[in-house]
Amino acid sequence: MLNVVLFGPPGAGKGTQSQKLIEEFGLTHISTGDLFRKHLGEGTELGKKAQAFMDEGRLVPDQLVIDMVDDKLQEENNANGIIFDGFPRTIPQAKALDELLDRKDTPINGMIALSVPDDELITRLLERGKTSGRADDQNQEKIATRLQVYQTETIPVATYYEAQDRYEQVDGVGTIDVIYERIKQAIKRLEK
Ligand code: AP5
Ligand code: MG
Repeated sequence: MLNVVLFGPPGAGKGTQSQKLIEEFGLTHISTGDLFRKHLGEGTELGKKAQAFMDEGRLVPDQLVIDMVDDKLQEENNANGIIFDGFPRTIPQAKALDELLDRKDTPINGMIALSVPDDELITRLLERGKTSGRADDQNQEKIATRLQVYQTETIPVATYYEAQDRYEQVDGVGTIDVIYERIKQAIKRLEK
């Protein structure tokens, strides 16, 4: 069983690398961003509540996020494990995740944090914005908000895992395959 938090700023490659991990290790992918976008697309109440926050690049309130993950975990029984992508993003979310997994007796092995400089992130997001249809990829101002929110609200989550010795940092610049190899090495260290 491998439960990993794949962490990093907007555009760091969390989604891209998650896909590769899922294929190789048969893990379940829980991406709160993808789940919210699904709700948005289906026009659910939750989607309507989340939309304004997402469009502006701000965080959706913790309780909405935690309840959504709780629902997802209750229907999830993958013995191989789970990749959490884009969650937890605040300390209350990190604590809630520990409690939710305690109930299942399947703790998080650790966090893998992708580090990528801001200028590279901005280039990637603007490029994706040409085709993604994501309102939060469309202009520099929204991207700047996302990067700032990451610095102020989300970075403390890395410190939370680091303090518990459940943390590995990985250089997120390079080809997708090279970064993937770095991630696999980091996973081996977390499994020890
Ligand atoms: P979310 O969907 O999680 O977006 P994000 O964190 O801003 O990150 P992205 O999905 O944009 O980037 P990524 O790291 O997945 O990179 P990707 O692989 O796509 O969240 C969106 C919003 O939802 C939030 O702003 C918030 O409002 C809300 N939300 C979600 N979770 C929440 C939570 N827990 N709490 C509160 N609110 C929450 O790659 C990016 C681009 O780069 C792609 O085009 C890709 O092809 C390219 N790329 C990838 N790797 C490389 C590489 N090595 N070299 C060059 N290009 C690359
Ligand atoms: Mg993503």
